[in-house]
Amino acid sequence: MAAPGVASGLPPVPQDLVRALTRAAIFLVVTVKPGAEARTAIRSFGRDDLPALLRSVGFRNIEGDLSCIMGVGSDAWDRIFGDPRPAGLHPFREFKSGPRHAIATPGDLLFHIRAKRPDLCFELATQIMTRLGDVVTPVDEVHGFRYFDDRDIIGFVDGTENPTAQAAIQAVYIGEEDARFAGGSYVIVQKYLHDMTGWNALSTEAQERIIGRTKLSDIELDDATKPTSAHNALTTIDENGRELKILRDNMPFGNVAAGEFGTYFIGYARSPRTIEQMLENMFIGRPPGNYDRLLDFSFAKTGNLFFVPSATFLENAADRASANAAPLGAPAAAPQGGLVGDGSLGIGSLKGDPDHE
Ligand code: HEM
Repeated sequence: MAAPGVASGLPPVPQDLVRALTRAAIFLVVTVKPGAEARTAIRSFGRDDLPALLRSVGFRNIEGDLSCIMGVGSDAWDRIFGDPRPAGLHPFREFKSGPRHAIATPGDLLFHIRAKRPDLCFELATQIMTRLGDVVTPVDEVHGFRYFDDRDIIGFVDGTENPTAQAAIQAVYIGEEDARFAGGSYVIVQKYLHDMTGWNALSTEAQERIIGRTKLSDIELDDATKPTSAHNALTTIDENGRELKILRDNMPFGNVAAGEFGTYFIGYARSPRTIEQMLENMFIGRPPGNYDRLLDFSFAKTGNLFFVPSATFLENAADRASANAAPLGAPAAAPQGGLVGDGSLGIGSLKGDPDHE
């Protein structure tokens, strides 16, 4: 069998990851009950229910630009879709050094819901959970908001160096390196809580050296001023002279009464290795010990890696009665004339990734 999308002669249609930053988002993580019933339910949910709910809720205010990405965790992948597996999918990789800990927490499905208005996000989250019913158990739900001029809760503009247009497509969507999953992506999420008292006790200049940019004007510090431990230094990954980018859509969230002030980190990439390298640099240090001082004031409370299959994959997967009896197991062939194969979107191989070599 050919890769999803090939039968129709069309390239696989990705889920809609590359979007402008929105004013509101909900990050919903759930676990899926074991068993055949849940497997069938999630497959048909991905094919029919989610697109239908998105149409219904989104159409009530088209200008609201409602979207929803569904990601699937490593264990859940085996239970719901079986073979073949996306090459880079594995449980979230923890990093620990001294008091710093990028912790792994439970989660089978991620729903990343975005819109210009929080009511649209809220309505879609409600409809999703109603439709899934007791097939899933909620693990974490975070309502993010945009804070002043795209700042995170620690006061810095967040998202400036995101890739755009073709560079964003190239950064997030899998291409020929894992052709059966072309148009898919990986997403890592972490919910961070900040020590705002400690952070606010720092001078603005000290904060700027931690982030690597000026606070008010959001200009990158020059190399003479920027420490090698700056956040934007440790999260810059060069491979063979080429910078490997990821696409972030972090959101502030909080609960004043509970004293919670947080950043929900979300990063999409065509290989989890890029984000894992950033995490290693931040938590362990590059070189070890030269860690990200942002972590003296920011504590990861959750950590998950999900695979984001293409919309075409979700459509086709639901047609198969049993993952094991009738796997999607295609010979690794690139779809013709589309997202991969003809190079029209310029997605090349991911050099240096053992998962893809
Ligand atoms: C405590 C949570 C975090 C906060 C508050 C935060 C905040 C920021 C800010 C303010 C910037 C500079 C502006 C920009 O280019 O967006 C930035 C850049 C960046 N961050 Fe984070 N970040 C957090 C966690 C992470 C994590 C966990 C990763 C990856 C594992 C990451 C990856 C990046 C990258 C790749 C850049 C752009 C670097 C560049 O090309 O200049 N961030 N972040």
